[in-house]
Amino acid sequence: MSNVESIAKKTPASNRIATLSIDGKNVSFPVYDATEGQSVIDITKLYGETGLFTYDPGFLSTASCESKITFIDGDAGILRYRGYDIDALAEKSDYLEVAYLLLNGELPNAAENKNFKRTITLHTMIHEQLHFLFRGFPRASHPMAVMAGAAASLSAFYHDSLDINIPEQRELAAYRLIAKMPTLAAMAYKYSIGQPFIYPQNDLGFSENFLHMMFSTPCEKYAVNPVLARAMDKILILHADHEQNASTSTVRMAGSSGANPFACIGAGIASLWGPAHGGANEAVINMLREIGDVSQIPEFIKKVKDKQSGVKLMGFGHRVYKNYDPRATVLRKTCQEVLAELGKIDEPLLKIAIELEKIALSDEYFVERKLYPNVDFYSGIIYRAMGIPSKMFTVLFAVARTSGWIAQWKEMMEDPKNKIGRPRQLFTGSAPRQFVTLDKRK
Ligand code: SDX
Repeated sequence: MSNVESIAKKTPASNRIATLSIDGKNVSFPVYDATEGQSVIDITKLYGETGLFTYDPGFLSTASCESKITFIDGDAGILRYRGYDIDALAEKSDYLEVAYLLLNGELPNAAENKNFKRTITLHTMIHEQLHFLFRGFPRASHPMAVMAGAAASLSAFYHDSLDINIPEQRELAAYRLIAKMPTLAAMAYKYSIGQPFIYPQNDLGFSENFLHMMFSTPCEKYAVNPVLARAMDKILILHADHEQNASTSTVRMAGSSGANPFACIGAGIASLWGPAHGGANEAVINMLREIGDVSQIPEFIKKVKDKQSGVKLMGFGHRVYKNYDPRATVLRKTCQEVLAELGKIDEPLLKIAIELEKIALSDEYFVERKLYPNVDFYSGIIYRAMGIPSKMFTVLFAVARTSGWIAQWKEMMEDPKNKIGRPRQLFTGSAPRQFVTLDKRK
């Protein structure tokens, strides 16, 4: 029996109850305990019993669902996929194995691993008709605009034949999305630089294939640097899932209406694009370039502390992590490995980033607000060293997060308590009033 069913049926794990006293009436709510992390108060009957809604803009104190996929302890700086620590997965696993883990809840055995990777490989090509979709975009389009459109357009190719109520069809949709996102991403890049699309090669691994599609041309053989392929694979693992962040919640909300999963991923890409979310990696590089030199850091920090400036230290801070983002720790090490491999260890932006981090982590303003480097602080420096333009950074985030998005979508679809998401509001608009015809308006 899944944990969800067990929660639906079981009495509150700890027999704790929360009692709300309002207008002289006491209402009690069951408390459910987590495997790890925060317990929750089940308030599903609040409106029925009190006629009141809860109010929690930004959902700082709200669990939107029950999930068994990813656990984050923001205070301790812990991130686990299905119980496995992120640094162990980054060091010892590979992206497709992690995608299998997120989807199925267990690491694959040798046969499952081999079969899953072969299945994904056989879905990496996209329908030839989709090439024409790219032709409709201006060459200078932001690749996230292209990706949001291209991913959602897959729903035009896989809709009539897709019944998301059939587990095997949900699984096939998940495989297609994980397999095709790198192909679409590389096509978005090639289209932006006027080079021909490069087809996936079935004899290459997932990240090697992606870098080959990004940087190969029909004019000569291109061998992917294995150190860069491994670094890319590690980066994809680190970005694969992250609990109920904005873009994952978007995919869940879109999927809760029964929408086509390819269209739901398009919605997730749109949400990830925002600079407060996945768009921060591009904003970090722009920030480091704007600082320009280590000597300018104190001036920049002064601007960040001046609320009027509206300037934020991009790549710092997190809604959940009030400690070092464990992904940033791995990325910082990977960054130094990649730059050393490419002979760019003196990369000025890395010097600025390391000095900026050092100054910020000792500055009271950031310490008291518990602002630490997050996943976006170092990733852009790695991508830039690999020759990937900054406009592509969030696209890579979307490629990685597709396995997390679709695993969360699948979990929602299989949740017996799943229903369409429909939040309410605190209405503070006009009181009822009579319509005034145009001739009578002042
Ligand atoms: C991702 O949710 C996820 O899991 C996301 C993600 C994932 O994997 O899916 O981890 C990926 O989105 C990482 C975050 C990338 N974004 C950035 O690096 C952009 C810069 N960061 C901020 O915009 C901010 O930190 C957020 C949006 C990430 C978090 O914002 P919160 O939790 O809403 O916190 P807040 O805005 O309420 O900030 C608390 C205080 C405020 O100051 P005071 O009003 O208390 O004086 O900290 C300040 C903020 O002004 N603050 C910052 C800051 N982040 C917060 N000040 C300067 N620079 C910053 N980066």
